[in-house]
Amino acid sequence: MTSRTKLKIGDLELDEGLILAPMAGITDLSFRRIIKSFGADLVTSEMVSAEGLVRNRASTRFLINSHREEKPLSIQLFGSEPSVISEAACIVADEGADVIDLNMGCPVPKVLRQGAGAQLLREPKKIKEIVEAVRRVVSIPLTVKTRSGWSKSQINILEVARAVEDGGADAITIHPRTAKQGFSGKADWYVISQVKQTVTIPVIGNGDVTRPEQVSEMKQLTGCNGVMIGRGAMGNPWLFKQAKELARGERVSIPSVRERLEIMGRHLDLYKESLAGRQNLSGIRSRLMWYSKGLRGSARLRASLSGCRDWETMIKVCEDFFATLEE
Ligand SMILES: Cc1cc2nc3c(=O)[nH]c(=O)nc-3n(C[C@H](O)[C@H](O)[C@H](O)COP(=O)(O)O)c2cc1C
Repeated sequence: MTSRTKLKIGDLELDEGLILAPMAGITDLSFRRIIKSFGADLVTSEMVSAEGLVRNRASTRFLINSHREEKPLSIQLFGSEPSVISEAACIVADEGADVIDLNMGCPVPKVLRQGAGAQLLREPKKIKEIVEAVRRVVSIPLTVKTRSGWSKSQINILEVARAVEDGGADAITIHPRTAKQGFSGKADWYVISQVKQTVTIPVIGNGDVTRPEQVSEMKQLTGCNGVMIGRGAMGNPWLFKQAKELARGERVSIPSVRERLEIMGRHLDLYKESLAGRQNLSGIRSRLMWYSKGLRGSARLRASLSGCRDWETMIKVCEDFFATLEE
């Protein structure tokens, strides 16, 4: 199998099935626009509370703000009540989402307490009910993102995957760690291949892809139809471009220091724009730090940024840092 197969989710055809993962606090509009500009075939929002949308909470509605540049866009919903999730699904479909993704893998206590996210792994019947309920009310592509199971002794992904397919979803994404595992250990890609052999809907693999060659490796080892990338994309949007260059048999381009600085600046401009006048210094600081990860002297930069009390000084500190690298 080549790594250039297309991914079809419902009637949405995606070039090479390279997808940006949903990450709360990270995959906001600014980040999605940057990643899209580097060739992601589909970008995903942060997880959005179905309840919050239905109650029309401003902070929740903010999360579904979108821009034509990032399309197609998948909006991820979390919740536990089929009626509430389907009402929220109608809202995001009306707002122009191209795909609805249902979160059935988040292990964060705040989400688990609501019976949502990974808690649903313990109730495969409810998974089917939720997917069916959403399927009944929206016609746009519908996907589910999940984990291997609740814990090492309760790995039930194959049962869950069947429930997702029977409920009428168009694709399933697997992050092959258990809920209890959080982010520890390694993602067990073998689980992705087991799911692939169990269901007929497209399977999207996710977990620990941080280098371009790992995209085709994951496809070849698991037979998955698409690859979703999360943490590896933070401060490294080039990963998407490089994976595509590799798949086309082209030379992989390495960003220059100047290009890094330029993209970081663009990211921050978009982030600032999305904040609409509000200051979020820690949000800005963390984004700046992503782009210096792994570079010579980045620990020093991190220390200097921690001491900055305004946006302009932070940018200046970064520019000086990158200037020393250029020399
Ligand atoms: C900061 C952070 C926030 C995340 N938020 C979400 C989320 O909102 N919804 C979700 O399904 N997964 C979420 N995830 C999990 C990622 O989507 C992905 O499954 C996981 O990071 C493994 O992929 P990776 O190794 O490519 O990062 C989050 C991960 C991180 C690191």
